[in-house]
Amino acid sequence: MSNLKVLNVGIDLGTSRSVIACDNGVRTFVPSYVGYPKDMVSRKLIGKDVVFGLDALKNRLALDVRRPFEKGMIKYSNMQDVNAAEFETYKKVAHDLLSHLIDLVKAEENGPVSVRAVLGAPALASTQNKKLLVEIARDIVDDVLIASEPFAVAYGLGILSNALIVDIGAGTIDLCRMQGSIPTEDDQITLTRAGDHIDEVFMREIKLRHPEVDITLNMVKQIKENNSTISDKGECVVAMLPIKGKPTPVDVTEELLIACRSIVPDVVEAIRVLIASFDPEFQSLMKENVILAGGGSQIGGLAREIEKFMQENLGYGKVIKAEEPLFAGANGGLMLCKDMPNEFWDELKNK
Ligand SMILES: Nc1ncnc2c1ncn2[C@@H]1O[C@H](COP(=O)(O)OP(=O)(O)OP(=O)(O)O)[C@@H](O)[C@H]1O
Ligand SMILES: [Mg+2]
Repeated sequence: MSNLKVLNVGIDLGTSRSVIACDNGVRTFVPSYVGYPKDMVSRKLIGKDVVFGLDALKNRLALDVRRPFEKGMIKYSNMQDVNAAEFETYKKVAHDLLSHLIDLVKAEENGPVSVRAVLGAPALASTQNKKLLVEIARDIVDDVLIASEPFAVAYGLGILSNALIVDIGAGTIDLCRMQGSIPTEDDQITLTRAGDHIDEVFMREIKLRHPEVDITLNMVKQIKENNSTISDKGECVVAMLPIKGKPTPVDVTEELLIACRSIVPDVVEAIRVLIASFDPEFQSLMKENVILAGGGSQIGGLAREIEKFMQENLGYGKVIKAEEPLFAGANGGLMLCKDMPNEFWDELKNK
């Protein structure tokens, strides 16, 4: 082993935002947007070859802006054969984003460091997709390990048994059953209708009832994040939306409710499958300990709604929200990274 200072990092590369937590104190996130100047004029305007996060969004008219992940995978990774060029492009986008996150932690250091990373991947990311993440990370960090995202969340919360984690992201909802050891494939389910799906339903419902309104997915996502709730007692949601160029107040309460509710039946069915296939003596303990994490867990009243559905389908359910839902995955990755024995990391090197 070299004598370089070792930095441990936990990383959650997300469809919507990418989060990093490091044991040198850095804990931050970057919306998962990467922008490249469109031509020499925009290059001059921006003054950089690549920009990230909100900077990329703000300057999007001068940039070619990309989101590297979709449904928990690097875009085009399941179409590598037919669209090799696009796949290579998105691989580079993911590489640039990860590199940027690592630069953020290295910026706090004066000398050279050795970086160990635990990278979160959707619960059931294919072996191929995990290999791809390792390949991308290899020339950015010194050691890398891929962990299932909801497992990282559970580990970070110190919840290792009799619990069910539901990580509600933009591209995927990842569920993982914790039973006192490292979860296997049977303990996990990944659903591909998550936050992005809510946005799509919300937009479809608005267009259905108000065809004259001009909106984009970005706009509905903003309205959702500022107002989301499943509670019947929620206040009316009135958004200013352009109609023929003029901002006009539109009541979107019903549309938002339908959109937020759209993920619940699938989530409860996945909870049911994971509970029903578990040791019957421990099933009731697990029903009592469903934990929501991820950006989507911030939908007001979601825990209650899932409890209601669990009550109907499983007889009982207790659902709580993780503290710091947005950092839970990266925090857990960092803890895993620190807890892995040195021999383990050395072993990885020799593989
Ligand atoms: N207050 C809110 N109400 C409802 N949804 C929200 C809220 N805040 C964020 N979200 C949604 O949460 C999702 C992002 O969550 P998160 O950051 O956990 O996802 P991610 O890790 O980037 O995605 P994935 O895990 O699928 O790759 C987005 O769909 C976003 O719109
Ligand atoms: Mg996530």
